[in-house]
Amino acid sequence: MSSALRQLRFRAAPIALRSARPSFRRQLFPLPLPLQSTRQSSTQPHKTDSQLVSIFKNALVGTTFALLLAVGYYTVTDTRFTTLHRHIVVPLLRYIYPDGEEAHHAGNNAMKKLHQFGLHIRERGAPDAQGDLAVTVFGHTLWNPVGTSAGIDKGAEVPDELLLLGGAYVEVGGIVPRPQEGNARPRLFRVVSQNALINRFGLNSEGADRVAVRLRNRVREFAHRVGLGSDAEAERKVLDGEAGVPPGSLVPGKLMGVQIGKNKDTPDDIDSVVKDYVYCVDKLSRYADVIVVNVSSPNTEGLRDLQAQGPLTKILTAVVKATKATDRKTKPAVMVKVSPDEDSQVQVDGICQAIWDSGVDGVIVGNTTKQRPAPLPLGYELPDEEKELMKETGGYSGPQLFNRTVNLVRRYRQTLDQGLEKHDAAPKVIFGSGGITNGKQALEVLNAGADMVQIYTA
Ligand SMILES: Cc1cc2nc3c(=O)[nH]c(=O)nc-3n(C[C@H](O)[C@H](O)[C@H](O)COP(=O)(O)O)c2cc1C
Repeated sequence: MSSALRQLRFRAAPIALRSARPSFRRQLFPLPLPLQSTRQSSTQPHKTDSQLVSIFKNALVGTTFALLLAVGYYTVTDTRFTTLHRHIVVPLLRYIYPDGEEAHHAGNNAMKKLHQFGLHIRERGAPDAQGDLAVTVFGHTLWNPVGTSAGIDKGAEVPDELLLLGGAYVEVGGIVPRPQEGNARPRLFRVVSQNALINRFGLNSEGADRVAVRLRNRVREFAHRVGLGSDAEAERKVLDGEAGVPPGSLVPGKLMGVQIGKNKDTPDDIDSVVKDYVYCVDKLSRYADVIVVNVSSPNTEGLRDLQAQGPLTKILTAVVKATKATDRKTKPAVMVKVSPDEDSQVQVDGICQAIWDSGVDGVIVGNTTKQRPAPLPLGYELPDEEKELMKETGGYSGPQLFNRTVNLVRRYRQTLDQGLEKHDAAPKVIFGSGGITNGKQALEVLNAGADMVQIYTA
């Protein structure tokens, strides 16, 4: 991208100049003053009509070109220009990259590069400034109740770019203690007729140490930009709120969650598992507004078993304790992300009890599903190749999850609120995730009892 832009810049100038008429060239590069004596110019013949017409034409073409560039820049980089982003970029990416994972990396890389050149997609104006979409979460007033969910930016490479899209919450991760490759490729499949995905990434991660360094550098670069310096003391100032921004998102009115998990090859005993989560907290919580405990990815064997009340209480209690020890003035909130498949009332009751007993601040309902929901619209028959795709192992995400998300959020809200009196505490926070595709659906999930919604596949 960068070399292409550079080539464009260096080529554009000579071509423009070569094609410019001599008179236009004189306008661009007037002769040095001593050579332009008044006597000389008074003896020069007047411009002919055809010369004037050509000057006018050149000016018109130049102005039109500049205007088109300006309008193009403003529309293409506007997050609400959905005609382009949804109807052109997405089909184009699918065409260029038959492998969904490659398209994903290309998208993230493009976001990063465009941001470096100031050409990133962003929310223009301040549509949330009236405050009618504002929500209060963990004591922070957020601009709006919409965020992106985990898995888009597993290595915390583009949190700023994602926040610029307009949402008030971004979740980076899942991150595990030691680097791990995840499952063999291909491991991401598009069900195009359903706008859905099946993935079996298996928590591929660069590991907590590496991501922590990246997050630390991000804070120091921010400190440098706001004139606080770029050393450890500058980092401390930002994290302790002296720059007036939340320590995770680094943007007023927005938050950043960091999601943590366990390594695939960690022994199954609960002490080893707890150690994994605590290791991630120790490395990463300094840079997070919210720590999210992932016990619900379907692609790490045995992970979902950790949602049983006993092990879950142990893990969450340990994470809450470690998070309280974060070397920072304010401590991150803690949430747990649960699966939409463990949805019997006994399971929901057990998870809610673990939430109250451990002292975590909230729950994300839910994740991808192991089930294969009926296609939409109801009665639609999938083409044969998509029927085959549905047999791929992995977690399914997309619009077909929506109704289940609403129902599950409602049940978690009811079940959690039953503990309010007993625990004499503030209501637990709920984020809804799964199949949310538009504003109307977001509102439905919020009305079912969620405080925020998160979006990925849409
Ligand atoms: C390719 C892909 C990777 C994902 N990776 C993670 C992950 O690392 N951790 C996690 O908790 N959820 C992960 N998810 C699940 C999403 O965060 C989200 O909960 C789920 O896709 C349902 O929401 P959606 O229908 O809006 O996509 C992933 C989803 C996809 C499609």
